[in-house]
Amino acid sequence: MDDPPERSNDAFETKAIHAGEEPDLDPGGTGDLVSPIHLSSTFAMDEAGDPSHGYKYSRLGNPTREALDERVATLSDANHAMTFASGMAAIATTCLSVLESGDHVVAFDGIYGGTKVFFDDYLAEHFDVAVEYVDATDADAVADAVAPETALLWMESPTNPLLKLCDIAAIGGIADRHDVLLAVDNTFATPYFQRPLSLGADVSVYSTTKYLNGHTDSIGGAVVTNDDALADRIRFVQEYALGAMLPPFDCYLVLRGSKTLPLRMRQHEANAKRVARFLSEHDAVTAVHYPGLETHPQHGLAARQMDGFGGVVSFEIDGTGAEARAFVESLDLFTVAVSLGSVESLIEHPASMSASYVPEEERLASGITDSLIRAPVGVESADDLIADLERGLRHL
Ligand SMILES: Cc1ncc(COP(=O)(O)O)c(C=O)c1O
Repeated sequence: MDDPPERSNDAFETKAIHAGEEPDLDPGGTGDLVSPIHLSSTFAMDEAGDPSHGYKYSRLGNPTREALDERVATLSDANHAMTFASGMAAIATTCLSVLESGDHVVAFDGIYGGTKVFFDDYLAEHFDVAVEYVDATDADAVADAVAPETALLWMESPTNPLLKLCDIAAIGGIADRHDVLLAVDNTFATPYFQRPLSLGADVSVYSTTKYLNGHTDSIGGAVVTNDDALADRIRFVQEYALGAMLPPFDCYLVLRGSKTLPLRMRQHEANAKRVARFLSEHDAVTAVHYPGLETHPQHGLAARQMDGFGGVVSFEIDGTGAEARAFVESLDLFTVAVSLGSVESLIEHPASMSASYVPEEERLASGITDSLIRAPVGVESADDLIADLERGLRHL
């Protein structure tokens, strides 16, 4: 097959439609516009051990997955992308590829709870990797925590669920000075609104379950990097040791979903801005966390390092945990569910849902109060969404 056309100079919208899915018009090609779903687990070889088509076994290489890998790499301005069976698989494979017993990790204290569980209950517990959590909204706190054993800085921006940011370029500088790796979970921003590798990260991860797929019908993850040696290491661990690949049907779903990523992200953001503004003016709401609001403490950083503020808003109501819970249950358009990044609006009460397993004292210390609510805003009509929230808040 000829090399695919170079897409790196195209606009994001063009890359989202075409990268990885050029029709095969070679003699014998089918001309499919849409990548076929290659379900075969193994591939017939014309030459034993060295097939001319290059495919041997689906864990080691699959044409549908390669199409998606190329799409994700191109959208992320990255040389390499690998797609995984979940965001957690992408995170775990990355960490297990770069860390050794005795290493030290500096992590943002606001990272996704699942990543924290992996760090605390697995890396620290079974691999003797020490993880130190710092308030990375202050880059100096990250620099101060770096020790001779530090191998990795693990950041997320914006964070889940409190929408805190870290200065990726400043922390990239710290990583370079100390010769350690910087990884950034870019799930909330997506490559449309933020490209951590261009800001100085060595590796970036996504849960494709969220915006990249965007339609609530696939669990997946991705890792992107420009570092050839790092890509080889992660790919080796993925293909030969851990094997958590994204299955072909899910690759097709993410290829399809990602075509509309720019359209959806613009609408998610427009709706989230209106919802955040509405909430910030409501008497029953005591705090709104959304980087697009000028009152967000890191609004300036968000405007500098992101091309948009994203679609997730979290807020606190003037009430008890039971009232916050009753409020989310009272809504019609916002569905009570964990996860985010899909076309439909969801709502959750972290204290009784996504953070319910965290001991109360630890949860409160991390800022997840009893009255905190997280609302990933979908692409429905903003008027309808605000009317739903208005109704719910009136009945508080
Ligand atoms: C920021 C972030 N990273 C990673 C993950 C894990 O992704 P997955 O659920 O696809 O394993 C999530 C899931 O909510 C997330 O919000």
